[in-house]
Amino acid sequence: MDDPAFDVGGGVALITGANQGLGFEMAKRIAHMPRVNKVVLACRNEQRANEAREKLQGLFADTSFEVMVMLVDTEDTTSCRDFGAKWTAIVNAPVDLFLMNAGGMGGRDASDIMQPSGSTRIFAMNVLGHAEMFDALSRANMLSPKCKVVYVGSETAVGMGPFPKPDLRDVDNIAAHISNTYNDPTGATKIKWIGPGNMGQSGYGTCKAIAALYFSALARKHPSMKIMTVSPGGTRGTNAHAKSGWFFGNLIPFMMVVFGVGHPLAKGAERLQYGFFVDEDPYVSGAFVASKAIAPPVGKCVDYRSFKKTENVFGDEKLQDAAYEAVRRFMR
Ligand SMILES: NC(=O)c1ccc[n+]([C@@H]2O[C@H](COP(=O)([O-])OP(=O)(O)OC[C@H]3O[C@@H](n4cnc5c(N)ncnc54)[C@H](OP(=O)(O)O)[C@@H]3O)[C@@H](O)[C@H]2O)c1
Repeated sequence: MDDPAFDVGGGVALITGANQGLGFEMAKRIAHMPRVNKVVLACRNEQRANEAREKLQGLFADTSFEVMVMLVDTEDTTSCRDFGAKWTAIVNAPVDLFLMNAGGMGGRDASDIMQPSGSTRIFAMNVLGHAEMFDALSRANMLSPKCKVVYVGSETAVGMGPFPKPDLRDVDNIAAHISNTYNDPTGATKIKWIGPGNMGQSGYGTCKAIAALYFSALARKHPSMKIMTVSPGGTRGTNAHAKSGWFFGNLIPFMMVVFGVGHPLAKGAERLQYGFFVDEDPYVSGAFVASKAIAPPVGKCVDYRSFKKTENVFGDEKLQDAAYEAVRRFMR
């Protein structure tokens, strides 16, 4: 990762959910980039964030770059809307690299718990908070005109295993998913794991699908920037399954190792890093880059916008615009 070819350019990097897992791994990688002089860890837990900052600063004690912590909870619309003003007061330099990484399955009933914005908890933590942060920074003039934005997506956006295939059609239907009022004709989206409560699986893939569509639409509105969705693929060594309940929280990581379903943390992070520094197909602005194999989600990557297996859902600009409009209903 010291290879200059991995130079993502830019001076100021912002990473959400940076205190562990893929976010922390990416903070380390981005901090190595020759032209990066500041890495801001945007986290919800002050203690964990400060521990991560110390670890990171310790690794690079001999360099001149600075690691900062800013508190933000992507589930909390207010904290995301205030982020632009806070950034101006604390950092006061435009963001060059923005990794929208915070998220996950959110734990029990995250697909059913509602936030004051009218969105489900799982949608707020994964998508809405990041959409708000982008707008807040843009309003504050704190996004570099050539800002590179990578949203951390997932192959579950096309449906796999316990993650139902999303049914996304138009603005109202997408808004219904976000507000948990979607009328599910088959009951498939209410699928539950064995065990009490819904561990987030029912809404997770749909959130990631709406996000990929939203960020493709956003990319068209900001042609000077590079905005894309990249899935790290099935990645071991993170805390992603900790909130799936005791049974699945232990079983899934175990199966990933035994059956080789997932790849190591370095592989997952490498894909996200490619999102920042590779400018060739499939890593182009507006893309949704994820595993060609879908399940298991490892190996070669393709752009799901033009991938036959995903039925061209993600390349449909009308649907991208519908997702854009639907998400924005919850933002103002
Ligand atoms: N691992 C995989 O196989 C995989 C596959 C596809 C996509 N992804 C995506 O990759 C991203 C990173 O996941 P991971 O595997 O690295 O899991 P992880 O180890 O659990 O890390 C998730 C990070 O997000 C933070 N976070 C969660 N909710 C937040 C909120 N409301 N506000 C601020 N920060 C929040 C967590 O903070 P706390 O420490 O405070 O909880 C943590 O730092 C997620 O978006 C996930 O959906 C992962």
